[in-house]
Order: sequence, then structure tokens, then C-alpha cells
Amino acid sequence: MKHFLDIHKTDATELRTMIDSAHAMKAARNGRPKGSPDDDQPLKGRMVALIFEKPSTRTRVSFDVGVRQLGGETMVLSGKEMQLGHGETIADTARVLSRYVDLIMIRTFEEATLLEMAEHATVPVINGLTNRTHPCQIMADVMTYEEHRGPIAGKKVVWCGDGNNVCGSFLHAAGQFGFDFTYTGPETLDPEERFVQFARDKGSKVVIARDPFVAVEGADLVVTDTWVSMHDPESAKERRHNQLRPYQVNEQLMSRAKPDSLFMHCLPAHRNDEATSAVMDGPHSVIFDEAENRLHAQKAVMRWCLGV
Ligand code: CP
Ligand code: NVA
Repeated sequence: MKHFLDIHKTDATELRTMIDSAHAMKAARNGRPKGSPDDDQPLKGRMVALIFEKPSTRTRVSFDVGVRQLGGETMVLSGKEMQLGHGETIADTARVLSRYVDLIMIRTFEEATLLEMAEHATVPVINGLTNRTHPCQIMADVMTYEEHRGPIAGKKVVWCGDGNNVCGSFLHAAGQFGFDFTYTGPETLDPEERFVQFARDKGSKVVIARDPFVAVEGADLVVTDTWVSMHDPESAKERRHNQLRPYQVNEQLMSRAKPDSLFMHCLPAHRNDEATSAVMDGPHSVIFDEAENRLHAQKAVMRWCLGV
């Protein structure tokens, strides 16, 4: 049984296999109606629980559709309506759900909740985002880069803004897929040292830069995310906006990247805060391909977890 908890916890060769499988499954659908089943039905007769303790559009819909395309069934559960963590321990919920379902995907706040679920579940558990990481997103992002520009190994990826959970998983991916990573933002929002160290230990060049225009110079890929994440207190908003405004991704900043650079944002976005609409809808942007590729990448992740 294999959990998909984080990119740095998954063998690099297996990550590669999952991305290849995602490309192949995307190609095989070749414009078919979205609700139609895949030729292959490896999840036939299987039930997948999708647990959300935070809001979601992409993760929720892409997992639900993905399971159905693979022939399985889903139940979407809201953390609030469950006994999760308040009526009973996470461990007990994990043991109980394992008697009913074949796979658990959970979006939660604390990383400890995910880890406790994985420790006590007897079925695979997938990380659908925690305060610390968002590995499914970055699997889709690597896939998206590759489908537009070929291998991401050796490329320069620049993250602008908050060194948050999505940034953390990008640093894990830098180490596992062999690309270089520059973070640019205010010091108080730097990514956690353990993410940076992982990428460096794997041989990636990681740069922390305060000047966004210097950082973006020669970038192959520019990435940003919301300035205030779901786990951040509302009271942080004004300060964050003041701190992060110089790191907005706009056309002026993108002009410092390579002419064929790509722009990514995991969405949801606050248009004209972290990135302007001109960039989000402009020639470098692949944001909606990223969103689509959540579906294909996660189908590959689920098949890997279940060995089907
Ligand atoms: N990118 C992403 O995870 O989006 P949702 O919050 O809508 O799932
Ligand atoms: N950093 C964002 C990502 C949302 C998909 C958050 O955690 O809210």
C-alpha cells in the first residue's frame, strides 16, 4: 500500500512514472466527452472518500471526475460534518473509513492530521493540501511545464510572493525533478528552511532574492499564488498586501523572464493582486492547462497508490 503524502517522500523514479502515465491518459482521452469513462476501468468497484476541511473547487471536482473516468465511485465529505478530530481521534476515523473505502484523499489544516490519518489507515491516503504542502498541484504543474516546453530538469523556476504550502511542494519538486528554484519575497514570508534544504541536498540551485526584477531575470517559469492562504488569519491580510505588492507578477516583471517563459498560478487567484489579468490571460500563461492537468496527474497518483 502506498500513500501519496508529499513529493519528497515519493521516489523520484516513481514520480516520473506517474507523470508519464498522466501524459498518456490525457492523450488517450483525445477530446472525448468529459463524463465518458476511460477505456481502462482500473477503479471499477472501488470507493474513494474525498474529505475537505477547507474549501475547494479544482481539487474536489478533478478528483471526483478522475475517479469516475477510471470507473470508481466517490463520496465527498466535509470535515465539519464528520466526527473528524472532535467527535473522535483522527486515528479512529482512519481505521473506520478503511473498513468502507479503498482510498482516502484529505484536504486539511495541520500536517499532523494527514500524518495521523496515513499512519492508521489501512488504505492509501493522498494529500489534497495542508497548511504546509500541496503535492498534487505540483505534479500537475510539472506535467504542464513538460507538455509546453519539454523536460523541466535544469530549468530556472522563480516563485514570487508568499513562501507558502504550494511553494514548499515546488521546492520538493525542484529536488526530485532536478530544476533550479529562486524564491523572491519579503524575508518574513520565506519558505521554510527544510524545504530549501531538501532541494539543495538533492543538488538543485536554490536562490533567495529580495529584488523581484533581479530574481526573474532569465526565468523559464514564473509562479505565484494568493497572498493570503486559507489557513492564514484574516487579520494578516492588510500587512500581507503591503509587503507583497512589490512582488506582483505583471507584464513589466514578466518581460525580465526568458521570451518563451511560462506563467503559472495554482488558482484560485485574486486578479490584479498577486498577478495582473494581463499576465494571467496573456501569452505566457498556462493557468487553465494547470487546472485541467490536476485531473490527469491525480488519476496517475491514484493508480500508483492502488497499484492498478
Ligand atoms: N489549486 C487548488 O487546489 O484549487 P482548489 O482550492 O479550488 O482545490
Ligand atoms: N496557498 C493556497 C493554495 C490554494 C490552492 C492556500 O493554501 O489557500
